[in-house]
Amino acid sequence: MDGNCDQFFSAIYTKSDNKTLYDTLWSTDATPWETSELNHFLRDYSSGLDLCPPKRVLVPFCGNAFELKWFYEKGLEVVGVELIEIPVRKFFTQHKLAFEVKELHGKKVYETPDKRLKIYVSDFLDITTDDVGKFDVVWDRFAQLAVKLNEREKYSNLLKTLCKEKFVYLMCTLQFEQIHDDPDQIPISVSHEESRKMYGDDWCNMKLIFQKNIIEDFPFLKGYGRKEFIESCFLLTPK
Ligand SMILES: C[S@@+](CC[C@H](N)C(=O)[O-])C[C@H]1O[C@@H](n2cnc3c(N)ncnc32)[C@H](O)[C@@H]1O
Repeated sequence: MDGNCDQFFSAIYTKSDNKTLYDTLWSTDATPWETSELNHFLRDYSSGLDLCPPKRVLVPFCGNAFELKWFYEKGLEVVGVELIEIPVRKFFTQHKLAFEVKELHGKKVYETPDKRLKIYVSDFLDITTDDVGKFDVVWDRFAQLAVKLNEREKYSNLLKTLCKEKFVYLMCTLQFEQIHDDPDQIPISVSHEESRKMYGDDWCNMKLIFQKNIIEDFPFLKGYGRKEFIESCFLLTPK
């Protein structure tokens, strides 16, 4: 990745819309947030959460997240939604998973032959329950880095409609000193207060499970010139 750090920062500091930015990052392999290990939140805290088949899990803004495969191997039905096609194709090829490409409700979908893992190539905010149904589990890691301030309510309301009555929603957000003058330019920090506003006390119980400064785990973050990038992992469950 180091070789592409320059490319990453040059794209991040160029003002462009989200689609152009992520298209540039994925097409130049400038995607330093990618990992090939299970996220520590799932590794250390998921055993008591009954994440078992036949449950359905939704992964918004999924990229080619390793966790898509982890949930699939556990036997769950997995649905990812990703704006850019490159990581979707990359996910299936890097994990040597056979796939078919189809169109469902006007959206391009990559799916395994057993239909238990699907990734929609779409703006997540254009997804509806008619497209994907409802979910028992949500795995939401760092999606909100790319959600504009005036779209946060739409984002959380959409997720509320996509959860079944009983759900487990695992959410990782990042807090850091603002990078750009424009607060809508990626990456966007989301405070705990803002998360509580988005999901609210009426809809769920929201428990902060842990927080960690991840700057040593993702050294490219030092390139932003900040000392702290705090990852906060929350567990949201029904009231
Ligand atoms: C920081 S990455 C996180 C990826 C993934 N959640 C993970 O844990 O590896 C954000 C991802 O969201 C995708 N994305 C950005 N805007 C999106 C949107 N409106 N709808 C769906 N995906 C989007 C980007 O292409 C990128 O893959």
